[in-house]
Amino acid sequence: MREGSATAGSLLEFRDLHKSFGRSEVLHGVDFRVARGEKVCIVGPSGSGKTTLLRCLNLLVEPTRGQLYYKGEQIGSWPGGARVGLSGYRSRIGMVFQHFELFPHLTALQNLTLGPRHVRHEGRSAAEARALQLLRHVGLEAFANAHPRTLSGGQKQRVAIARALAMQPDLILFDEPTSALDSEMVDEVLELMRRLANEGMTMVIVTHELGFARDVADRIVVMERGAVVEEGPAETMFSAARSQRTRDILRVGVKR
Ligand SMILES: Nc1ncnc2c1ncn2[C@@H]1O[C@H](COP(=O)(O)OP(=O)(O)O)[C@@H](O)[C@H]1O
Ligand SMILES: [Mg+2]
Repeated sequence: MREGSATAGSLLEFRDLHKSFGRSEVLHGVDFRVARGEKVCIVGPSGSGKTTLLRCLNLLVEPTRGQLYYKGEQIGSWPGGARVGLSGYRSRIGMVFQHFELFPHLTALQNLTLGPRHVRHEGRSAAEARALQLLRHVGLEAFANAHPRTLSGGQKQRVAIARALAMQPDLILFDEPTSALDSEMVDEVLELMRRLANEGMTMVIVTHELGFARDVADRIVVMERGAVVEEGPAETMFSAARSQRTRDILRVGVKR
């Protein structure tokens, strides 16, 4: 049987991704790809499978069917499994969650150094120096020794983004990074994400912030009920989407 191959230029690609939980299939054959340096925003109503898609991309959940390619190589095929070590693969892909998921018992600095020290085996002083530099980059150097509970939501999410960067990932997946924030803190996080985008980071962002998506995304993917409704360049999707459903979703946005 002929082996499939990745689309030329894709950094990460999942072909024909199906995911079931028990008997219930929640992703029905999604094709997803992101190129190096590309910013892809995923938009769609609650329950459409956006989080499950992200979690399959970094193999935090086991896909049911499909082929996963990374840097042009097939690194897994389901049913079957991954051909590479999960922890090495995941360490290349940063993840930023809606509810931050910082380690509550660790300081901001320790949240940033944990992965580099234990997964990348960096020495303590090198990891700390880089962590401080990253905290400065996100405007939180003064909070290096603060615990998450003492930080605002916006500060926590900026620490979480810095933590993702500390692993020097090839790309970062963001799952509704501003949905849990009070409205006055949304902008500081979006501003930081815009900065990362301008710096060339490869980003996959699930978001309901349509203005942000329009500005930052190279490509918009609209999902509903476990499938991609439509995808295309941001300017086309907002001005000349093919499907009425896409136009509705991108006009009114969708709330959780
Ligand atoms: N661990 C799980 N077990 C069972 N069903 C799940 C699980 N995670 C998600 N689902 C279901 O999968 C569907 C898609 O969920 P999700 O990916 O969280 O959507 P979204 O992020 O777009 O809101 C939903 O119907 C949800 O209930
Ligand atoms: Mg979700």
